[in-house]
Amino acid sequence: MVLSLNKLDTDWWRQAAIYQIYPRSFKDSNGDGLGDINGITSKVAYLKSLSLDAVWLSPFYPSALADGGYDVSDYRNVDPRLGTLEDFDQMVTALHNNNIRVFVDIVPNHSSDQHAWFQEALASKPGSRARDRYIFRDGKGKNGELPPNDWVSHFAPSAWTRSKNSDGTPGQWYLHLFAPEQPDFNWDNREVQLDFLKTLKFWADRGVDGFRIDVAHALKKDMSKINKSYPKLKGFDITDKGNDILFDRNEVHEIYREWRKLFNEYNPPRVAVAEAYVMAKRRMLYARPDELGQAFNFDLLVAPYDAKTFKRIIKDNIKLAKTEGSSSTWVLNNHDKVRHATKYGLPKNADLNQWLLSDGKDIPLNRAQGSKRARAASMLTMALPGCVYIYQGEELGLFEVEDLQHQDLQDPNWIRNVEIKSQRTFFKKEGKTIKGVAVVHTEKGRDGCRVPLPWTSSGRSFGFGSADAHLPQPSWFAEHSVQSQTGVNESTLELYRMALALRAKYQSTEEIEWIKTGDPEVLHFKRENSWHCVMNFGGATYTLPAGEILVTSAPIKGRSLPKDTCAWIMAPQ
Ligand code: NOJ
Repeated sequence: MVLSLNKLDTDWWRQAAIYQIYPRSFKDSNGDGLGDINGITSKVAYLKSLSLDAVWLSPFYPSALADGGYDVSDYRNVDPRLGTLEDFDQMVTALHNNNIRVFVDIVPNHSSDQHAWFQEALASKPGSRARDRYIFRDGKGKNGELPPNDWVSHFAPSAWTRSKNSDGTPGQWYLHLFAPEQPDFNWDNREVQLDFLKTLKFWADRGVDGFRIDVAHALKKDMSKINKSYPKLKGFDITDKGNDILFDRNEVHEIYREWRKLFNEYNPPRVAVAEAYVMAKRRMLYARPDELGQAFNFDLLVAPYDAKTFKRIIKDNIKLAKTEGSSSTWVLNNHDKVRHATKYGLPKNADLNQWLLSDGKDIPLNRAQGSKRARAASMLTMALPGCVYIYQGEELGLFEVEDLQHQDLQDPNWIRNVEIKSQRTFFKKEGKTIKGVAVVHTEKGRDGCRVPLPWTSSGRSFGFGSADAHLPQPSWFAEHSVQSQTGVNESTLELYRMALALRAKYQSTEEIEWIKTGDPEVLHFKRENSWHCVMNFGGATYTLPAGEILVTSAPIKGRSLPKDTCAWIMAPQ
């Protein structure tokens, strides 16, 4: 079949609308409660109705699911529960035939502990070639019973876990910046470097157009500093010199320069986007044209709903992206953060984790406000130059599912972040008093934004599949389903459809011109073709400029733009 994609368009990625699919929660085609590849293929028409340029699939590889698939056991295969490589090829063809390109997620910092290489490493001796692909070190203490240092991981207190020798005796320790089931690769090892080139080539040869690179800033570590303390993970505050022990080291860029050479062997060149939680200036280094080309800008994802903050972030990111020859990316949601409709429906300074831990009970959620603000903010980002990333379900106006029951939670953030509060708790079981400990979970985790999509307004799992979904869906999903919103003028789904179609039609260059509003709560900018975007975050009603009103995020009266509303206008040329 002839592909309808324009192969000559090497810049397609600069201003694309990219939809993130979390495959296990998108659509289940075979009734096992897990979304799968054929489920995605069955929804190509839906994806097309959103005028997307590309979809990005979170990991669908074989995995023991210790971290939602970000623990990969085999990088060049499909999880048999999700399908086969043939299913994958069919999905790519179906998407390409509808002009939708495909990104896959590459997880190079760590594998699963079930990966053949890690199993081989465990069965091999210290100092062996197999162990050198990971980061094994002897422990401290008389018998090596203490971890090599105090380094911490994202999902467990320590970044080290002690391995067992093949005879069952305790052995060396291995490094994992995430869960113990996610051992970190040794990126100084050439075999590791070559194997990832092979993986990239494998997917690029299958027609994959782009790659999302997981924790792109963590691959290189300075293991000569093993005796240095690193007791707390850093946020955006990692040194800007590129010499932190664990993150954003200057040498990491050598890896991406080698990858770029491979990407450029294809026509059009393959593209990539870095997931690098580092400060904006450093993040852009990953986006240089001789490296990955683009980096996620998470500034809005973590920002409060606030006009001044939004404006600063937008201006800074457009400028920075230009400096490096890249284009910016706009992200309001992903599979790691509380959905924006929920975030904007809570007070600005609310502690989202505490709120989730209380099952949403400690502060009332203002759903109407959250939804109104989320629709407006989405429209604002869709009007900006650069790529807009949409996370599955945000086009349905989904809120975070805040009250998932403890027994249903899957995220290692929930499972592993525990504190032992008391050694003196007593409880009764079968008439006996038992001494125990009180274990308190300190993070609720990310499952609330990963609940399977509602396709229909009734039925078991709301049309997700014929079985119960792998994470339970709340009853309010009914009114958010694709079925209940399709054709309904003021629904969030139809708003996304309309706005994305208009965006595809009107944007051309990457220019933006800010227009003074005299009200700090109102942002107004103009794109090419006299396309204006005006957003009132919280000010008095604002009079819209002259021109045809293309779309508004909420109904408006005449030309008055109320607060929490965004409007697009086509001004007379
Ligand atoms: C970032 C991914 O987005 C997240 O879901 C995952 O847990 C970590 N990287 C580890 O791979």
